[in-house]
Amino acid sequence: MARIRCDQLTKRYGHVAAVDRLDLEIEDTEFMVLLGPSGCGKTTTLNMIAGLEEPSDGNLFFDDDVVNFMPPHLREVAMVFQSYALYPQKSVYDNIAFGLKLRRTPRGEIDRLVRDAAEQLEIGHLLDRRPSQLSGGQRQRVALGRALVRKPRVFLMDEPLSNLDASLRITMRTLIKKLHQTMATTFVYVTHDQAEAMTLADRIAVMRDGLLQQLAGPRETYQRPKNMFVAAFLGSPRMNFIEGELESVNGRTLFRRGPLAIVVDGVPGAAASIGREVVLGVRPEDIEVVRDSDDSLQAKVLLVSPLGAEQHLDIMLGDVELIARADKELEVAPGAVLPVHVAARRIHLFDRTTEASLALEVVA
Ligand SMILES: Nc1ncnc2c1ncn2[C@@H]1O[C@H](COP(=O)(O)OP(=O)(O)OP(=O)(O)O)[C@@H](O)[C@H]1O
Ligand SMILES: [Mg+2]
Repeated sequence: MARIRCDQLTKRYGHVAAVDRLDLEIEDTEFMVLLGPSGCGKTTTLNMIAGLEEPSDGNLFFDDDVVNFMPPHLREVAMVFQSYALYPQKSVYDNIAFGLKLRRTPRGEIDRLVRDAAEQLEIGHLLDRRPSQLSGGQRQRVALGRALVRKPRVFLMDEPLSNLDASLRITMRTLIKKLHQTMATTFVYVTHDQAEAMTLADRIAVMRDGLLQQLAGPRETYQRPKNMFVAAFLGSPRMNFIEGELESVNGRTLFRRGPLAIVVDGVPGAAASIGREVVLGVRPEDIEVVRDSDDSLQAKVLLVSPLGAEQHLDIMLGDVELIARADKELEVAPGAVLPVHVAARRIHLFDRTTEASLALEVVA
């Protein structure tokens, strides 16, 4: 078990900062997810924690020790990659046991650890097979097993599920979450899949171009994104954005774009920003189809996409096209006009230039 602290941790390749002054504290036994698009520095961060890359600047601590240049084998970390990197000539049993044999663990102890791990991963019946005789999901379980038996202080995973098909990813996600609960070990997990991040993480570190954008729990990150990048990265379909201006009419604060006016009374930062050019953000599930009322807006339905559990509607609101999520029971066809409502407490406002949330300007 270990607490990990990145203090202004930086990795430069030539002039490019792959990881740029990262401050990040990972609690003992926490499940931390590093989330961001391709090239944002996730793997580089993980590799520095593993000891596979040396930092260019800043410090990396395990508990209270600086480990910047400590070789990987002394760190007691286990790493699982996207590619399973199994030994093709060895059986599943020997693949899992390999690290333990290297460390001269007694044979009986090895046997117990391997069978325990295989049991947990539900691959107990496959121990005699070679990797080539396994499915992708089974291979990834073997890779997990190999990491598991080493009882690492820290478990590092770099997109371990991205080679698997969608339904297997969900099964394996559940398995990894259970593993974390039973092992009580620090996990650092890299992914570009926001759903994976949301379901697994105690906290999510959202990265972009080597820079940490937001560090918070899944709910907080989803409900109070600090900027448009984070807002757009979490959630599917993604948050709708509308450019416009704030104005004050009869004591109410309105977001206006041409004929479209949305009441934003009480949205953090709104009242102090009259006249400002902003971007209004609203998630698809927060555009509610309602009965006609004073506050409702008229939306023209362009497309209807049924998904079974829900429907996605492409709608025109004023001159902007948005996606709304509707109940599966709603009877609606393209061309229909629906009254919709956007509750002020569900609205996000961002500065149009900096893309930062106006909520950050509100002094607590
Ligand atoms: N050995 C290297 N030499 C030069 N540049 C590198 C090297 N490794 C990574 N980079 C650059 O550093 C940046 C971060 O790379 P990194 O592999 O950490 O991204 P990532 O977030 O893991 O992306 P992906 O989701 O595609 O795996 C990228 O711009 C990448 O091109
Ligand atoms: Mg990567």
